[in-house]
Amino acid sequence: MTSREDRAGLYDHSTGRIGRAARLLRQRGVLEPFRLVRKHGLAESARFISRNVRHLIADRLARKWDRDHNVDTAGSIQLAMLDVVGPNRDKGNECVCTSPKSFDFIMKSLPSDLGGTTFIDIGSGKSRTLLLASHYPFSKIVGVEFARELVEIAQRNLRSYKNPRKVCDTLSVVQADAAAYEFPDTPLLVYFYNPFSKDVFDVVIANLVASLKAKPRRCFVVYGSSSHSAIDWARPAIRATGVFEELPVPPMPSFLDAVRVIDYAVFRLDEKKLARAG
Ligand SMILES: C[S@@+](CC[C@H](N)C(=O)[O-])C[C@H]1O[C@@H](n2cnc3c(N)ncnc32)[C@H](O)[C@@H]1O
Repeated sequence: MTSREDRAGLYDHSTGRIGRAARLLRQRGVLEPFRLVRKHGLAESARFISRNVRHLIADRLARKWDRDHNVDTAGSIQLAMLDVVGPNRDKGNECVCTSPKSFDFIMKSLPSDLGGTTFIDIGSGKSRTLLLASHYPFSKIVGVEFARELVEIAQRNLRSYKNPRKVCDTLSVVQADAAAYEFPDTPLLVYFYNPFSKDVFDVVIANLVASLKAKPRRCFVVYGSSSHSAIDWARPAIRATGVFEELPVPPMPSFLDAVRVIDYAVFRLDEKKLARAG
């Protein structure tokens, strides 16, 4: 096994890098790193090392954030062994949480008057994003997550989270397949961080547009992706609805608490286009 278990006993792929490297040295000898550099070339080897160092730093910072705030959100939890509702397990991505610095950076592109708005994280994992959203004056914060074990961890986190920045207290998580989720009829900020493949996303975004047509109201959509290059298909898919306008946003800096730089896009519902779309 190349991974270890997280605090709740779930299969966590983010830990064990140093152990794996030590095992390789023991098994193949101390010259193995030189053999690997010769095989893959200097540039590729440097990229490999910097990727792994970055993972290690981001992982340490995530665990420190958890200790500081009395929660469990770190890790890279694989979905294969989890108890999932709905038919879309194989289309879902592993549970890796948005980095706190990246989230705060994204929020700078959104309006500050969030009263009356419900923040919804589609594929909310262990709830890190819900906790971070509670630093902003949303009326309600809702997580939608299809894996029972992650919902249970999230619910414990919502109870135990300690942070003086918290200004919203109405947080909850529902266990549901995002494709079957019905959006509440309040103003919305719908957040996606690389949760699943395009076919599930198409269903969720169509459900959102149908809900907005049934009751027009303010709505923002944020899409973030780091691996899988999901932003490359998510951005055109949101534009293709014909009812959202993409807002200009600054590029994401390379924050140390993020395993990779997050590419992101922010959209605002254009109510005139919505009315024209019938
Ligand atoms: C990359 S994680 C994002 C976690 C969280 N949104 C964040 O930003 O910290 C993706 C999450 O989406 C969940 N997921 C994947 N497919 C889903 C689906 N069809 N319905 C609900 N949740 C889903 C996974 O279980 C995982 O927890």
